[in-house]
Amino acid sequence: MSKEYKRTLITSALPYTNGPVHIGHLAGVYVPADIYARYLRLAGRPVTFIGGSDEHGVPITLKARKEGVTPQDIVDRYHALIKKSFEELGISFDIYSRTTSKVHHETASEFFRRLYDKGEFVEKSSEQLYDPEAKQFLADRYVTGECPHCHHPAAYGDQCEACGTSLNATDLINPKSTITGATPELRPTKHWYLPLDKWEPTLRHWILDGHKEWKSNVYGQCKSWLDMGLQPRAVSRDLSWGVPVPVEGAEGKVLYVWFDAPIGYISNTKELLPDTWETWWKDPETRIINFIGKDNIVFHCIVFPSMLMAYGDNFQLPDNVPANEFLNLEGDKISTSRNWAVWLHEYLVDFPGKQDVLRYVLTANAPETKDNDFTWRDFQARNNNELVAILGNFINRVVVLTHKYYNGAVPTPGAYQQVDKDAFAEMDSLRTSLTENLETFHFREALKDAMAFARLGNKYLQDCEPWKVAKTDSERVKTIMYVCAQICASIAIVMEPFMPFMSKRLAAILGDFKLSWSLIARDNVVAPETVLGQPELLFEKIDDEAIKAQTDRLEAIKKQNVVDAFTPAPVAPEIKIDDFARLDLRVGTVIECEAVPKANKLLRFVIDDGTPEKRVIVSGIAEHYKPQQLLGKQVVFIANLAPAKIRGVVSQGMILSALNADGSLVVVGPSAQATPGAQVK
Ligand code: 2FM
Ligand code: ZN
Repeated sequence: MSKEYKRTLITSALPYTNGPVHIGHLAGVYVPADIYARYLRLAGRPVTFIGGSDEHGVPITLKARKEGVTPQDIVDRYHALIKKSFEELGISFDIYSRTTSKVHHETASEFFRRLYDKGEFVEKSSEQLYDPEAKQFLADRYVTGECPHCHHPAAYGDQCEACGTSLNATDLINPKSTITGATPELRPTKHWYLPLDKWEPTLRHWILDGHKEWKSNVYGQCKSWLDMGLQPRAVSRDLSWGVPVPVEGAEGKVLYVWFDAPIGYISNTKELLPDTWETWWKDPETRIINFIGKDNIVFHCIVFPSMLMAYGDNFQLPDNVPANEFLNLEGDKISTSRNWAVWLHEYLVDFPGKQDVLRYVLTANAPETKDNDFTWRDFQARNNNELVAILGNFINRVVVLTHKYYNGAVPTPGAYQQVDKDAFAEMDSLRTSLTENLETFHFREALKDAMAFARLGNKYLQDCEPWKVAKTDSERVKTIMYVCAQICASIAIVMEPFMPFMSKRLAAILGDFKLSWSLIARDNVVAPETVLGQPELLFEKIDDEAIKAQTDRLEAIKKQNVVDAFTPAPVAPEIKIDDFARLDLRVGTVIECEAVPKANKLLRFVIDDGTPEKRVIVSGIAEHYKPQQLLGKQVVFIANLAPAKIRGVVSQGMILSALNADGSLVVVGPSAQATPGAQVK
């Protein structure tokens, strides 16, 4: 930060309300934004933290159509769910509103209208994709097709999720309507375009010259957009769900969701602070920070700033846009449609009271500079080995010992020894590093600094060994336990941005002092004679069973996804009944079955086929069945297949089996007992 600002406006990307939020959203946007907001508040710096739901856009109408309900039903459902789960996780928004609100519709309309009146748009009629069956234009996700850049077969009309390129629906190769599956036709329609090219020189100067401190992923993406050259971008769509385009002759048209959504930050500020919102947006003494995921960079760094500049009236541009990369789950990309996610509302039910654990793990493993992976094993290990064993353990030892020696009352210290002074000095230098990391959005490192206070506490206790000193020098023990109480106080403060629930409980144990950043590493924050609360476990071990329940759930989802993605092989060329009649299929009973030596895929069967001789068949299914599993079972086999010698055994036929979507195999048999040798017709 190059200059001192009077206040900070923090915005966090408004999530689409077409589904619940998952850990990817949390790690990418909401947890870091909340850490930053909480830190600023503790530092006594004025801050407003804006959140809200993004309730327009095609994914919402698609979901409504699929469920046979209205888009309003969908957004009402998910807005309520998301808002509640954010609250429970302790995301400390000053407001969490929604883009279907009256204030937002008015604000977004007025914004468009002003740009329209100022002549900031280019009005253009062009040929767009139209679904003749659904009788509507196909914007954005209403159309899929092959990506012209990476040739991914299922790119959307607005973006290819495989290569990340932003697309126009008409760029797609072999487009198909997602409503009816029809091949769209081209029809002319009028839209308003924001000429981003007009703002290119200003954007270039503002970002490339003025914000070299931005994260390299953000700066790099902006540079590549600017170097490719900006084009006018349509800001309206032929849809019925959204903010209607507020000009004559725009019936059936709404604002493009990416035009109205960022205006949501302004509307929500207005709703929260009707009298002073302008100070938060137009005063150059306000610092605006946009927390987003990497897929939102272009909209926040190029499109929205162009809109704000086009509007004028002193709207300020963001000072930083600390976008994160993506979080994967157990090695796979998180996906709402494939249900491959840890959903926040489900986590809160499965792990009641463990909000801080999730916040901790998502921060410790945040995808700040590259995509990262969330695994349940890592979640368990971080809880058990770090939160329980290091942090919880230190606090617990201090509280227990203080109760044991002094009935809980913090003792009056004597003169400090070097080890005591060192503890304060080390906390002071940790505070400097922690503050610097928070100021520069390095939250993973900041969390390490915060944890270092607990490590320091453990080491201090270990070095001072009050339990031994107690036998010889009770005065010295008083100083040690007093210093420990001060370390606990610093921990309560430094952990508040990361783990607010634990911090609150700890502060209560320490006599409910008022948390403030200025008190970190300070002496006498917990005064002598303060009676500490009873020892309580701030963190509990998470056992293997709880983790297994989660990994089993994911395993089941993975299997289901494979089945859902299965497409049966194309049917073979047609045959006549005579062709089939040449095949002699029979039922037989397995009377012997054994592995073929030195062949891990083969089983040797003796089949009762109704003849006295019986029949030997060798089948390559040993990876799917153990010999005894099929004993006594009935199978269907080809009886007139020419005998073949397999590994020295003559096989007189072939047992029929079906290969499943997940690669497993089942032998085919009659649905009830059949006579051995009976023909299958
Ligand atoms: O990517 C998303 O989930 C968008 N709904 C984010 C919008 S951010 C802002 F502009 F509202
Ligand atoms: Zn692509």
